[in-house]
Parts: sequence; structure tokens; C-alpha cells
Amino acid sequence: MSAAAHIPVMVQETLEALAVQPGGRYIDCTLGTAGHAAAILERSSPGGQLLGIDADPEVVKIARARLTAYNNSILLVNDNFANLEAVCLKYDFFPVHGILFDLGVSSMQFSTYGRGFSFQYDAPLDMRFNPTQEVTAADIVNRYSEAELARIIKTYGEESHSRRIARKMVQSRPIETTFELARVIEQAVGGRWGKIHPATRTFQALRIVVNHELENLEAALKQAVHMLGFEGRLVVISYHSLEDRIVKRFMQQESKDCICPPGLPRCVCGHKASLRLINKKVITPSPEEIKINPRGRSAKLRVAERITMSEELDKAAEDPGFLGQFHGAWRRPVLLRKLRTVLSSFAIK
Ligand SMILES: C[S@@+](CC[C@H](N)C(=O)[O-])C[C@H]1O[C@@H](n2cnc3c(N)ncnc32)[C@H](O)[C@@H]1O
Repeated sequence: MSAAAHIPVMVQETLEALAVQPGGRYIDCTLGTAGHAAAILERSSPGGQLLGIDADPEVVKIARARLTAYNNSILLVNDNFANLEAVCLKYDFFPVHGILFDLGVSSMQFSTYGRGFSFQYDAPLDMRFNPTQEVTAADIVNRYSEAELARIIKTYGEESHSRRIARKMVQSRPIETTFELARVIEQAVGGRWGKIHPATRTFQALRIVVNHELENLEAALKQAVHMLGFEGRLVVISYHSLEDRIVKRFMQQESKDCICPPGLPRCVCGHKASLRLINKKVITPSPEEIKINPRGRSAKLRVAERITMSEELDKAAEDPGFLGQFHGAWRRPVLLRKLRTVLSSFAIK
């Protein structure tokens, strides 16, 4: 069965959010079939460079074939973005001007026979991004207790019929395929169908758990801040509220100098802001784009910019070796600091 081509979401908005410039260095943490990557490479030429990461070895192959024109400007790696820092260090690819996360699954993965991501195509219940991962959706569906299934479906699918679905799943075991599972869920919820297919939320929940999606996102966001040069942009496109909540909270927290609970007489956390929010209001696709690409209708884009933390400036001024580990954009704040010191020695007292 041929797979549907993936239409990248909010490409222009993404390029603007990343502030892509000729000669810039970028990381696409969710390379997919390289829709965004190709646009970034085009806008950043001449001289642009892109590190593309994807957990799915199949999509990396497709992306490589699609980006042959940029062979000298790309580095494509099959890895999990939870290992972002290690990948950047391994390939000496930092600091960068921008990092993109376009979360979730591509249309191509959804519709490829055998992946088991969608209840619209009959396939074994797999849902792994990478075939080397140990646990499949079938393992969870057939081995977890009813209570654990109900918790997963409620927490990661935000499904109000979670207990009923979990009970029916346990009664119907073994469940081996996407069609079998979709039928079990339909039976569990009876006629109570809303706007979306009753299996949508349960499939989302299973995919999130199989791939540790939320934990990986939290880990990767923290690492991304370290890989950005000053004024580098962090752009995240999410597709459901659980992801978006993590991104929103992270960016808000990282844009504050103190994250102590309210009411404390003075700061005890010592937290320093590392990001500046660029869009206070979340960016969503235009009605015209949704008409062409309905799959992008739930997309939410958030963007923040790496700022210089005062402690980094102080450390760099005291210990020039501190910056030895960094390159390019990282040197700028030290130069500024030195310039400021020189200028202040000329100041009239
Ligand atoms: C929505 S698609 C990206 C589509 C891409 N922007 C394009 O234009 O073709 C999301 C991609 O992220 C990958 N992915 C999801 N979680 C990942 C993770 N933790 N590490 C690396 N890749 C991941 C998926 O395999 C999928 O290819």
C-alpha cells in the first residue's frame, strides 16, 4: 500500500519564527520526510547547514533521498531527540541559530502499511517510531492490567470513557490489529460518538506511551536551550493539549528569573531566565491552510529566543576558558562584555 505524502504545517510561519538567514545553522529534531528541512535549507542558502534528527529510520532514508541537492549542507541522524545534546556534541554541531520540533507522526507514517499508528489502516498494533524499541502497542493492550489501561487512556488520551474502554479491551484479548482494537473501542462506547472517531483518543494514548513522547519532549526542550547560540530561536509545533501544555509551561518558566512559589518574601530558587517569549499568543494555521491540509488543524506553534543569562556573562568574563567549549555565536556576549569593560574604563567618574 502506498503511503500518503506528508504536507508540512505552517512552513512560512516556521521560517519566520526561526528567523532563518543565509549561512545559518539549524537543527530539525523531527526531520520526517523533510518538508520543513527543505524549506529551511532553501531559505538559509548560501551557506546554511542543517542537522536533521528522526527516531524513525525509514523516514530518514526518505528525507536523505529528498535532500540530495543539499548533500554538502546536511547531516541526517537516526536518533531520538531525547539525545539531542549527545548528537550535537558527537557531530560538533552547536551552537545553532534555530531548533525546530514538529511533534507527532507524519502522514506518511500514519498511512504506511504495518506501522499500526492509525485505525484507518489494518495492521498489527505496533506504533513504535523505531523497530528497536522493545514495547509495542500490542504488548500494552494485551498485557497491562485493566486499571493501568484505564489510567493510560484517561491520562494520555484525555478520554472520558477510559474505564469502559479498558474493561472491554481486557475482555476482548487477544487484540492483535488496529481494526480489531478500533472495533473493541466502538463496542465499548456504544452509540456515544462525538465529532471524532471513538478510537482517536485511545490510539493517541497508546502511541504516546509506546514512544515515551512526553518524557522525551521534556528532556529535549531542556537540552535545546543549551544548544542554541545567543538570540537563537526555539520553535515547537504541537498537535494536542498534552504536548502544548509542556511546551507552554517550559517556555514560560525559562523566560522568568525566579520560579519560586508566590508569596515567598524573597527568591530562594536562584533560577535565571534563558529564553524570551517571541509570540505571547500561540500561532495556528490559517483557515486557507486548514482547507488544504486538514491534518494540521490542531497545530500550535510557539517560539522563544535564547537570551544571555547574566551568570553566563559573569562566568565568561572571569574565565575565558569557559567559552572554549563553545563556538561562533557564543563568543559574541564575551566580546560585548569586554567592550563594555573597556568602555567603562573610559567613563568619566
Ligand atoms: C509531524 S512529523 C515531522 C514532519 C516534518 N516536519 C516534515 O516536514 O516532513 C514528526 C516526526 O517526528 C519524529 N519523531 C517523533 N518523536 C521523535 C523523537 N522523540 N525523536 C526523534 N524523532 C521523533 C517522527 O518519527 C516523525 O517523523
